[in-house]
This record gives sequence, structure tokens and C-alpha cells, in this order.
Amino acid sequence: ADPAVIARLTKEFEFPVTAYGDLVSQFTKELHEGLIQENLMPMIPTFVYDLPNGEESGVVLSLDLGGTNLRVCRTTLKGKGEFEIIHKKWTISDALKKGPGKELFAWIADRIEEFLNVHCGDTHKEGRYPMGMTFSFPCEQLDINVGNLINWTKGFRGTDVLGQDVVKILQDCIDAKKLDITVNALINDTVGTLLATAYRHPGCEIGIIFGTGTNCAYLEKQSEITKIKPGAANYASPTDRQIINTEWGSFGNTSNALPANEYDRRLDIKSSQPGKQLYEKMVSGLYISELARTVFHDLALKGELFAQSSEKSKTSEELGDLAIKERFDGAMMGALDGDESVNLDVIERHFLTNYNLQTSLSDRETIKHICHLISSRAARLSAVGIAALIKQRELLTSQKEVIVGIDGSLFNKYPKFREHLEDALHEILGSAAVRPEISLINAEDGSGVGGAIAAYLTCQQKGLKI
Ligand code: BG6
Ligand code: GLC
Repeated sequence: ADPAVIARLTKEFEFPVTAYGDLVSQFTKELHEGLIQENLMPMIPTFVYDLPNGEESGVVLSLDLGGTNLRVCRTTLKGKGEFEIIHKKWTISDALKKGPGKELFAWIADRIEEFLNVHCGDTHKEGRYPMGMTFSFPCEQLDINVGNLINWTKGFRGTDVLGQDVVKILQDCIDAKKLDITVNALINDTVGTLLATAYRHPGCEIGIIFGTGTNCAYLEKQSEITKIKPGAANYASPTDRQIINTEWGSFGNTSNALPANEYDRRLDIKSSQPGKQLYEKMVSGLYISELARTVFHDLALKGELFAQSSEKSKTSEELGDLAIKERFDGAMMGALDGDESVNLDVIERHFLTNYNLQTSLSDRETIKHICHLISSRAARLSAVGIAALIKQRELLTSQKEVIVGIDGSLFNKYPKFREHLEDALHEILGSAAVRPEISLINAEDGSGVGGAIAAYLTCQQKGLKI
């Protein structure tokens, strides 16, 4: 790899240990202020007031609309933190993501019907199934089963349903098909992750997604949430506890605190929501792969990548799909970053097969380095969010062990992401001797169970049989 290119990019994407302190303080400040005032970090109060105790039991359906997949699940909660889950997963196509919201919901109802026919047989004729809806987009919740879509994130674009109650839209589609289902609880995927992890691991009070997008939910003291939302139901929590959906992807939107470089700014301007989700755009899978693609593209135009012996810079046309937005995704980036072969064969094959581009060994080293720079910066920034949340909660509890449930493709599948995250947490918070013990628990596909628990708790609260 060309040392001058490497040095330049390293400088661009550097996020030094010395920068942690200020960013953690700013993050904690934004988390705290979001509980007091509107229009800052959303810090959305959910209508989930407590965590499961692990003894919940019954059969409940749930729906899990993530950033990549839709899942329909039938969960049998068995108590003692045990459960059985039957689920079916479908990839959400680009056309569905970018098309009208009404079509997305109609498609979801078709998938629910398909699932019911196969996995619920006649049993659903015995009565209406409660269903928990795990929905991974910001909603202004007005009750446990009412949530108006604030805005889409992660490249979804169905503007026709903005501001509308997503539970009602789904319920209407379900009713049109005469399915015996009542969607009785709406939760964010981070809340689902938290509930599912808490069911198995008592003491877990934080749920995080590092996937296509990033976000975090945690258990807060209700008395700390002093902002008032007009029109929302307001129940007093008997335990003074309430789960907050932080929507932390928006960190830095107003404060200019993030260490953004020219590539970050370019990505933001070309995104469907410029100026929004700035932290998410430096951390999560959808965006870090797009950042990497932008850097490859830029270097190729400058003659610093794919130039071969001719030393010639490439034109956008010659780069084929590599010149097109989002034609390089997180899974591809993970595969390249994880290429441990001597000649970097995975990288060579990838560029040849997908973009018809020849690479020299030096090109491949540069490519691997770019993936590493961007993903390790993402892991460090992720650690900043976790550290800030732990600090925010330290003000409230004296818990010595912090259990964090984490889900999402970046955390579950990206090579070394977890390792970089743990190293960075260590750098920020000091050694285990001086900080609370932190357990990062993998909650893979947790939101299916989380949605079921939310539906269960709602039935219980309303005195309904499950
Ligand atoms: C899944 C959860 O495992 O991870 C979903 O069940 C969540 O609720 C998803 O939205 C996030 O990951 P990704 O990569 O699909 O955005
Ligand atoms: C985006 C969404 C948020 C979700 C996260 C992870 O940030 O706005 O609601 O939790 O992605 O899927």
C-alpha cells in the first residue's frame, strides 16, 4: 500500500483516545437534556414501565421489522427465562424500503398470513392472538399501542405514512385479511432487545442495536423524565421506572461535536436526510460501508486505487457499480476487513466478480486498511455512546455490574467489531478494577421474544387472558 495514501486516510479517520473524554461528556449532556426538553435527542418515553421477571408464560405472536429483515414469530414463553420460538424471516427488498409505506404494510400483512397458515394451524381460531410489534424506526408513542411515525431512517422512504399511527395501519391490513390478531403493543427494536435480554439475564437494563442503524434503550427513573408531551397518555409507574428509547443515532445533530471529515460530510449531504442521524452515519452498517465505497471511489478517480501499471486514474463509468450509492454493503465490508489470506484473495475476488476491477496487492492492502480504519472508528464511537449511558445511569444507580443486551448485524457478524468495542470501553472507562463490570450479551434475533414479552406484559396490565 502507498504509505502517503495510508497516512492521509489514517489522519482523516483518526479518533484518538485523547478525544474520548470530551465526546463522552457531550453525549451524557445530550442524553440528560433530552429527558427535560423536546427537540434535542428524542429520548422517547415508552409505555413499558418495567422489565419481565422471567416467569412470564404463554403463547404470543410478534412481528420484528428490522433494518434488513422482517420476521414473524410465535413465541412460547415458559417461565424461568426459557422460551421456544418458531419464526420465519424475509429480507426486505430495496423496492419495499424505498416504495410507498402502505405497500410495505400490506406486504407485512401477507407475510403474517403466510406464517399463520403454516405455524398456527387451527389454534388461532380459538381466539384472537395478541401480537407485539417491534418496529425499528422512531415513533412518537401516545400509548402502548399507538405510535405515530416521526420519520423513516436507514434509507426507508414511504412518505405516505409519515406522522401516521403504524399500529393502526398494520391492524387495518390485518383486519382486511380477517386474521385473528390484535396488535396490542408497539416497541422499538432496542426495547425488544432489552426485554428479551432481561427475560434471560436479570439485571440487564440496557438494550442496544448496532446493525443497519444504531440506537439504545434503557431503564430510567420516571421522575427524571420531566418533559411533557401534549396528547400522550401519562401513567404513573408504580416503581418509578420507565424504559426510554433514546434514538441516540441523532447524537451530534445540533452540537457539531462529532469528529466528522470530508467523507462524512459528503455522505450526509447525499443521504435521504441531510443533517439528521449524524452519529448513526459514522457508526452503523448501512453508512460505514457507504463511507468505505466513497473512499474507494475517490482514490480511484485520483489514480490511487485500481490504477494498475498504466498509472491511470479511473473514470466513474469504468468503476461500474462501485460508483453507485450503496452498491457496497456492510456484509461485503465485513468480508473484506476479515480477509486474513496472505494475498488477500477474498478482496481480489470481490472486486473482480462484482465490479470487474483488477487489483494489485498494494490496492488490496489499501482497501483492507480503509475498512479497518472506518470500522474501528465506528467501534470507538459506539463505545463512547455506551460509556455515556453508563455514566448517565451511574447518577441513578450504584449497580456494580452493567449487563447490556446487544443485537444487529454489525455486532453479530462484523469481524472484530466486538473486540474493538471492548478495547475502546476499556480505554474510556479504565480497567475492570476501577469501573463497573460490563457484560455485553449477544441478543441475536432478540426482538422477536422482546415483542412477545411486550404483548404479554400489556395483556397482564389490562387483565386480559393470554
Ligand atoms: C435483529 C433484531 O436481530 O437485529 C431486530 O431482531 C433488529 O429487531 C435487527 O432491528 C437490527 O439489525 P439489522 O442489521 O437488521 O439492522
Ligand atoms: C435507527 C432507527 C431506530 C432503530 C435503529 C436500529 O436508528 O431510527 O429506531 O432502533 O435504527 O435499528
